[in-house]
Amino acid sequence: MIQVENLCKHFEIRHRHKNSWAVLRNFLKRDSSTLKAVDDISFSIQKGEMVGYLGPNGAGKSTTLKMLTGLLVPTSGRLEVNGFVPWQSRQKYVAQIGAVFGQRSSLWWDLPTIESLELLQHIYKIPTARFSSNLEMFKKLLDLDEFLQSPARSLSLGQRMRADLCAALMHDPAILFLDEPTIGLDVVAKQRIREFIQQINQDRGTTIILTTHDMADVQKLCTRAMMIDHGKLLFDGALSDLQNRFGGQRRLIVDFEEPPTQLKLANATIISQEALRITFAFARETRVAELISALTRDHAIRDLRVEEPEIEATIRAIYEGNLLSA
Ligand SMILES: Nc1ncnc2c1ncn2[C@@H]1O[C@H](COP(=O)(O)OP(=O)(O)O)[C@@H](O)[C@H]1O
Ligand SMILES: [Mg+2]
Repeated sequence: MIQVENLCKHFEIRHRHKNSWAVLRNFLKRDSSTLKAVDDISFSIQKGEMVGYLGPNGAGKSTTLKMLTGLLVPTSGRLEVNGFVPWQSRQKYVAQIGAVFGQRSSLWWDLPTIESLELLQHIYKIPTARFSSNLEMFKKLLDLDEFLQSPARSLSLGQRMRADLCAALMHDPAILFLDEPTIGLDVVAKQRIREFIQQINQDRGTTIILTTHDMADVQKLCTRAMMIDHGKLLFDGALSDLQNRFGGQRRLIVDFEEPPTQLKLANATIISQEALRITFAFARETRVAELISALTRDHAIRDLRVEEPEIEATIRAIYEGNLLSA
């Protein structure tokens, strides 16, 4: 459904100088550099998939989505969505897709929300019966009734996002692009948006790509994650593999029968101790069975469990570790 090959988007950055001599020199000799916002990425996405596109700020997520939706023309590479080259046949293409850019509304600012939706009906030539049944459904799922008569400018961020989601889906697009759909929302509003996205994917089989830097979004919604940083695709696969590949240390939490003395374990370090409970950290490669048999040799143990690091901690470690330079 989506094929991306060696996709690049480079921006020319002009350097500005404060001192006038530098300005003159700048004028005489072009002083610019190239920013590789998206740098040679390839992937493909099947119909009905829901993919999380992760990365820190400035990683290149929005730029990728803008190329996928046809708003930006790539510097190089190949891109095909549902049989279309997005920026070449935009008119026909936009009928296939829906897009929500979290930072910018697609609604008319001063029109009552319902009139924005009606305008979209004309633009997309949505048959009236279809329009009505979709509107009924989205009204229920997204609780639109409370603000359908209010203009976009007066909506809260959460309401605006709900209205934008509705607007993006009224013409039954096969693919939905969501750029930071939960940004700035409180926990309850986020949850509601996530449930809606999940339902659309399940009930309608809509292919969804969602960019976010909120790991909980991906954890709750996606089984597949792609990760980008500095324009490079660092990872593409199952969320659980991301964990396995980049996940930091695991933890072994042990409840002893009595305060342990002379406690030492090869391949594990004690990271906390409270009363009879001791928490060890150990590398992913270390075999848990070995740790446990070493422990039970010398100590009486009441209970133990192994904890995987939170995906959020994993991602943070990846970001902080700057994998590209590794
Ligand atoms: N129109 C533009 N001109 C110059 N640089 C841009 C432009 N759009 C984005 N960038 C730069 O490209 C990089 C990637 O931006 P973006 O795709 O918006 O990142 P993300 O959405 O992951 O936060 C950033 O360094 C950003 O400053
Ligand atoms: Mg962005």
